[in-house]
Amino acid sequence: MKVAILGTGKMGGAMARRLHQQGFDLRLWNRTRQRAEQLGIGQVFDTPAEAAGGADVVISMLTDPPAVRQAYLGPNGVLEAPGARIYVDSSTVDPKTHEELARAAVQRGSTFIEAPVSGSVPAVEAGKLLVMVGGEPAVYERLRPVLQALGDVRYVGPLGAAARLKLVANSMLAIISAAAGELYNAGLRAGIDRDRVWEMLIRLAPYLEARRAGFIEGRYEPTLFRLGDMVKDLELASGLYREVGIETPLTQTTRQLFERAAQEHAEQDLAAIAELWRTPASAPPAGRG
Ligand SMILES: NC(=O)c1ccc[n+]([C@@H]2O[C@H](COP(=O)([O-])OP(=O)(O)OC[C@H]3O[C@@H](n4cnc5c(N)ncnc54)[C@H](OP(=O)(O)O)[C@@H]3O)[C@@H](O)[C@H]2O)c1
Repeated sequence: MKVAILGTGKMGGAMARRLHQQGFDLRLWNRTRQRAEQLGIGQVFDTPAEAAGGADVVISMLTDPPAVRQAYLGPNGVLEAPGARIYVDSSTVDPKTHEELARAAVQRGSTFIEAPVSGSVPAVEAGKLLVMVGGEPAVYERLRPVLQALGDVRYVGPLGAAARLKLVANSMLAIISAAAGELYNAGLRAGIDRDRVWEMLIRLAPYLEARRAGFIEGRYEPTLFRLGDMVKDLELASGLYREVGIETPLTQTTRQLFERAAQEHAEQDLAAIAELWRTPASAPPAGRG
């Protein structure tokens, strides 16, 4: 099966490497061509449409809704490629973007499914990504071998359901990360041994363990998940919560904290949220005592 990957950034690049290892024939496109060439696998093309032509399945893994729309609907976008195929967007975007792309794909005789993911590059490399699928079950069945090569796949529901679940998941990830930044430093300030504080926090939130160097030592390289991308996710999530009419005070406070941290740490890993509490002399994040 021929698979095109649009976007060979941290996640798209890792997914390409994984699919290559699993025997898939790859066609790659990346805005910055060199980044796709550096992978040293598959065939690299100049435009999304060229990469999609000749592929049975196209997987996009791009930063945000404007980037995804451009790659599908813009000049030389994938939907200009002749022939029918399955399009899969794995980017973290809002459900409306997926609904719009699905309509456009169907008008051209193709099908579209959403498959946002949970887990970073190490999860992709280990084949342990959690892939959330939204769309027609019959299309998902045809895609199953490709998605299962990436990790555990969960069918969530009709198109839009997986994008919504991903926004809920990342709200949780953001809240846990901000809570860890606050409470690790509160524990230290209260005079508790750092290892005892950390041990307790990871017992309650095991996901934190992978970011120990960030939270404890202030080492945020390599960037697994750009802090700036979490600001994007919290904005998309807030739009969803407004739309469905639920108040989300924890998410909103967390969003403000991430926006503040992004002023200096947007390119670092999201654990850099801890910087808001790092300096003993700094004001508390909310500007209150
Ligand atoms: N990192 C994670 O742990 C993680 C986990 C789950 C989901 N995600 C989601 O996965 C997606 C990709 O994240 P990532 O961490 O792989 O980010 P990344 O390393 O920054 O890669 C972003 C990709 O999007 C491309 N891009 C950005 N803006 C573009 C535009 N306007 N037009 C065309 N291409 C554009 C970049 O191309 P260039 O190389 O030219 O910049 C690159 O290929 C995001 O939606 C993110 O929220 C990330």
